[in-house]
Amino acid sequence: MQLTRKGLWAGLIREFRDFLPEIKDEAITTLLEGNTPLIESVNLKDIFGDIRLLLKYEGLNPTGSFKDRGMTMAVSKAREEGAKAVICASTGNTSASAAAYAARAGMKAYVLVPDGGIALGKLSQAMMHGAMVLQIKGNFDDALNIVKAITKDYPVKMVNSINPYRIEGQKTGAFEVSEHLGYAPTYHFLPVGNAGNITAYWKGYKEYYKEGIISNLPKMMGFQAEGAAPIVLGHPVEDPHTLATAIKIGNPASWEGALKAKEESGGTIGMVTDDEIIEAYRLLAAREGVFCEPASAASLAGAIKLKKDGVLIDGDTVVCTLTGHGLKDPDNAMNASPKPVKVAADVKKILKIMGF
Ligand code: F0G
Repeated sequence: MQLTRKGLWAGLIREFRDFLPEIKDEAITTLLEGNTPLIESVNLKDIFGDIRLLLKYEGLNPTGSFKDRGMTMAVSKAREEGAKAVICASTGNTSASAAAYAARAGMKAYVLVPDGGIALGKLSQAMMHGAMVLQIKGNFDDALNIVKAITKDYPVKMVNSINPYRIEGQKTGAFEVSEHLGYAPTYHFLPVGNAGNITAYWKGYKEYYKEGIISNLPKMMGFQAEGAAPIVLGHPVEDPHTLATAIKIGNPASWEGALKAKEESGGTIGMVTDDEIIEAYRLLAAREGVFCEPASAASLAGAIKLKKDGVLIDGDTVVCTLTGHGLKDPDNAMNASPKPVKVAADVKKILKIMGF
């Protein structure tokens, strides 16, 4: 199949329509998500040598995370089906995205988030977009169970990634990487929380491969935080912990999808410590000029680990998806950086501190 892309970006449903579930034009709810940059790393050669490293910067989606890809599809379909309200459990980004797309569609959004442990930027987004924000005394897994119970009996549409339209939308990330490179990378690294995104990317790569748009498939490399690594451990984690709050999940809904992506592609589901995550988070911001949130950096932390282990070698093409924008989580950013220097408004004193 030959792809021809012309004109201004029209949002991913219109751009990838041939590969997505059918939908009526009037139901399409878009903020022109997708078309995010694949940024070539230039300053990490001391770590990666002659490996080609590229960063899929999903923080540049309309609400600042990859969730918008799935949400345009899920909310559009809910609208087509006549739903008046959507609901989700979230560690933050899903709630921000659901709230924005529901606002756009003229629908009500209910979002259940853990009380505490959700980044400030995300909470403020959900509030500003007019969602009803329910902070529950429990973690993400508890919130998801409640959402499942409610949607079984009440007329609100679930927009967590158990909703298959979310996966459909999110697979377009793999389409964009494939079109950008003209082939699939050797390895594709992703952070893993509820495991929807790795499931979606793998589906996307397989579809482009089947159509002959790419002639190779990547190894899918999912990374969990050490304190929230149920898939690595092989059992749910009762009380997950990590400062990467976006992926603080003990019982992922798409567990099977992640395992399938790993097994079919010959990849890995691994884990990285919070220290490794923060190190990668800082490297990206301070040396590449790319600001992502901590959970996103689990992808790069995984790549650094496998480079050190000798798995990644010169000549490989490695893509890391950076799932969310750094501005989402100002608290972690402040804690991970040198503090500002307080100084009098005095040229001489300032020059001295500057080292002149
Ligand atoms: N990175 C970020 C920034 C996320 O917000 C999430 C998930 C992930 C990675 C993991 O993706 O769940 O598809 O494996 N956030 C969800 C939320 C759980 O509620 O915003 P996944």
